Amino acid sequence: MKKTAIITGGTKGIGRACVEKFLTEGCQVITCSRNQKDLEALQKEFSEFDLHIFRADISQLKDVKAFAAFVFTITSEPLILINNTGIFIQGNLVQEPEGVLEQLMATNVYSAYHLTRALVPSMMEKKAGTIINICSTASITPYVNGGSYCMTKYALLGMTKVFREELKPYHIRVTAVLPGATFTASWEGVDLPQERFMPASDIATCIWDIYQLHPSTVVEEVILRPMEGDIS
Ligand SMILES: NC(=O)c1ccc[n+]([C@@H]2O[C@H](COP(=O)([O-])OP(=O)(O)OC[C@H]3O[C@@H](n4cnc5c(N)ncnc54)[C@H](OP(=O)(O)O)[C@@H]3O)[C@@H](O)[C@H]2O)c1
Repeated sequence: MKKTAIITGGTKGIGRACVEKFLTEGCQVITCSRNQKDLEALQKEFSEFDLHIFRADISQLKDVKAFAAFVFTITSEPLILINNTGIFIQGNLVQEPEGVLEQLMATNVYSAYHLTRALVPSMMEKKAGTIINICSTASITPYVNGGSYCMTKYALLGMTKVFREELKPYHIRVTAVLPGATFTASWEGVDLPQERFMPASDIATCIWDIYQLHPSTVVEEVILRPMEGDIS
C-alpha cells in the first residue's frame, strides 16, 4: 500500500525537493503553503503523481487544524511527517523590530508543534511513523545576523528531542535534520555562485534515505554543510 507523506511548505526549496522525491519514490504526498497559485502550479507539474494540496498559513493554529482535518479526509494513515515550513528574517536580538520573534516562533516552531500533535495520535495507534523536523546548523551554532531565527531553530531542535523521547514507546522515529546553506529562495539576492551552496535535492535524498532505514533504527540528528563550510 502507498505510504502517505505530509510535507509542509512544499512549493519551494527544501520542501519542494522533498515533495518531488517522495512522489517519484511512489508515495502519496499532502502539502501546504500560503500561496494558492504556487500550490496549483506544483500540482500541475506533478499531475501524474498522487499529490494533494491545501492552502494554509500554518503559523496560525486554526490553519494547522484545518490542514490536519484535510489530511484525514485523504488518509487515515499519515505515517511520514516532514515539518519543513520555516522563514528566515535577518537581524540581531538587540535591534530586530518588535514582533519578529513572535512571527518566527509561530512559523518555525509552533506550526510543527501543533501539526505534530494533531497527526501523531494516528501514528501512536499504529505504533509506527517517521517525523522529520527541518532544523538548521543555526540550531547548534549562533551567528551574527541570525537573531531570533537562531532562537527558533534551537527551540525546534529541543522540541524534536522531547518528541523523540515521548514517542519511543510507540515506535515513532523522530529525526532532526540540520542543513547549512542550501540553494533556495531564502538566499535570493546573495552574490555567491550556486556551487557554494548545497542543492535542495541533496537534503531531500538524505531525508528519503533516513526514512528508508529499518523501522528499528532512528537517525536522531544529521548535519549537512556545504563542502566549503558555512555561509553567514
Ligand atoms: N535554505 C537554507 O539555506 C536553509 C538552511 C537551514 C535550514 N533551512 C530550513 O529549511 C526549511 C525550508 O527552507 P527553504 O530555504 O527551503 O525555504 P523557502 O524556499 O523559502 O520555502 C519555504 C516554504 O514554506 C512555505 N511557507 C512559509 N511560511 C509558511 C506558512 N506560514 N505556512 C505555510 N507554508 C509556509 C513557503 O510557501 P509560501 O511562502 O507560499 O507560504 C515555501 O513553500 C526552513 O525551515 C528553513 O529554516 C533552510
